[in-house]
Amino acid sequence: MAAVTYELLKVCKQSGARLGRVHTPHGVIETPAFMPVGTQATVKTMSPEELKQMDAHIILSNTYHLFLRPGHDLVKRAGGLHKFMNWDRPILTDSGGFQVFSLSDIRKIREEGVEFRSHLNGDKLFISPEKAMEIQNALGSDIMMAFDECAPYPAEYDYVKQSLERTSRWAERCLQSHARPHDQGLFAIVQGGMYADLRKQSAADLTSLDFPGYAIGGLSVGEPKHLMYEVLETTVPLLPGGKPRYLMGVGSPDALVEGSIRGIDMFDCVLPTRIARNGTCMTSEGRLVIRNAKHMEDFGPLDPNCSCYTCTNYSRAYIRHLIKADETFGIRLTTYHNLHFLLELMRGVRQAIREDRLLDFRDEFFDKYGMEAN
Ligand code: GUN
Ligand code: ZN
Repeated sequence: MAAVTYELLKVCKQSGARLGRVHTPHGVIETPAFMPVGTQATVKTMSPEELKQMDAHIILSNTYHLFLRPGHDLVKRAGGLHKFMNWDRPILTDSGGFQVFSLSDIRKIREEGVEFRSHLNGDKLFISPEKAMEIQNALGSDIMMAFDECAPYPAEYDYVKQSLERTSRWAERCLQSHARPHDQGLFAIVQGGMYADLRKQSAADLTSLDFPGYAIGGLSVGEPKHLMYEVLETTVPLLPGGKPRYLMGVGSPDALVEGSIRGIDMFDCVLPTRIARNGTCMTSEGRLVIRNAKHMEDFGPLDPNCSCYTCTNYSRAYIRHLIKADETFGIRLTTYHNLHFLLELMRGVRQAIREDRLLDFRDEFFDKYGMEAN
């Protein structure tokens, strides 16, 4: 039995979205699912108990960051990432193939791997597909990601083609060097930029190898949203129906709903936690900037339609005061609310699929929330 399997429960008759379950060694993920991001083995400001209270099924962490600090050998000696951070539910680790390109000072991309300088101290380091597997095997995540290159946007056709072909060769090397296939699932990442034929080529390369799941990478890199949806519409149908599909780096409320409609099962994004730390909240009525003076004497909750810990107990006026005074508790409250909001949105998406009404759900949601820019 593979370490990670997908169970399709039903397809929404109105939208084609999938309701399912991803089974992992640390438990079940109900899909479509949003995964909070815990880059450095913590979802910033949240305890594992709080994440469980809001019913997060899975979190994501980063190979690149944990490799740099504190080092995967140390995490392994601690008993693995789950034990190290006291989180006993599923963990997905990204491979570093994105963070290396976005955070570090790249020296050289070679067939063998990527040479770069640490964004922390400038040390010269190297990650290859084999190294990315060694690190993730040591961390012991339930779902590991293949080492890939995410092409920038915009990028020339020929560049994207070479990059996706290398990503396919790297994916095969990841599969070859994966030491724990019995208890860790390795997902491949489809690349190909905004070019439909390159997406086809990437999907064909990767689905010819038998991965337990497939991600779509290289999106939400600055392209307009309609382009991202077009790429999803050409790419998703090329992926096997019996495996989970994961759209990487996407987490705006509208894109979570539109992605689900297009057959995506898993999403992750730093958006809810990042904007929470500068006091921006996602609410059923759209984004709310808590620093705004109009909330100074507003003693109502962040979101009148939210039942989270923050909205049950604290007012806009109080949270605004905390954030303006740089009090840590303020960003804990906004972080809790934003994560709860997206997890609740996904519970709504799953219920709407059950009831064959996800398109109606989308229209009702957007009527109140409004569309996000890009
Ligand atoms: N996170 C968001 N996009 C990507 C991508 O294309 N590749 C990887 N590895 N992680 C991502
Ligand atoms: Zn709330």
